[in-house]
Amino acid sequence: MTAPSLFRRNVEFEIVDMTAADCAEASSLHETGFSRAWSDGEIQALLAQEPVFGFMARQPGKRAVPGGFVLARLVEGEAEILTIAVLPKHRQSGIGWRLMGAVLRRLRSEGAESLFLEVDEGNEAALALYRKIGFSKVSERAAYYDNRSGAKTAALVMRLDLG
Ligand SMILES: CC(C)(COP(=O)(O)OP(=O)(O)OC[C@H]1O[C@@H](n2cnc3c(N)ncnc32)[C@H](O)[C@@H]1OP(=O)(O)O)[C@@H](O)C(=O)NCCC(=O)NCCS
Repeated sequence: MTAPSLFRRNVEFEIVDMTAADCAEASSLHETGFSRAWSDGEIQALLAQEPVFGFMARQPGKRAVPGGFVLARLVEGEAEILTIAVLPKHRQSGIGWRLMGAVLRRLRSEGAESLFLEVDEGNEAALALYRKIGFSKVSERAAYYDNRSGAKTAALVMRLDLG
């Protein structure tokens, strides 16, 4: 994992553990990144599961909407990114990278072996982030996503070896 250029790193934000109190804001963030937004209750239900954890990007001392969040799950050494979203106005300033970095640190400290995720083949920003971290494609689910344009696109299943 080679760090993005320092001048683009958004130092106003700190990455903190996500708690049940963050789920409503996480739902608002999720809505900015996906056509089917996850509700506060859905995120609460996920986070309440013991193997699920998450991080928020927050500006210390400010009540502003958080910059982004990530949710992940670890079961018996195999982990998965459930979702990640960064507020549009703060994208491309290193927040996604830092959220993923926090997940990787947590997983390595818990001895996880591999991290999987699914991404739309047309999601160039996410693909660039994941490839930069070191993920590679392991399989593909054809016509998996219904795009806003009406077209169907494939889901790429990607894996990162943590060993
Ligand atoms: C994908 C997403 C989380 C990336 O978050 P981000 O904070 O903008 O990403 P970062 O600024 O940390 O970028 C890290 C690296 O990812 C790549 N990247 C991120 N956005 C990119 C873009 N729009 N175009 C090309 N590369 C991009 C770059 O390699 C970048 O490194 P660099 O800054 O050194 O060039 C964000 O675009 C988002 O929330 N998208 C909507 C929700 C979504 O698609 N989630 C993923 C579903 S699988």
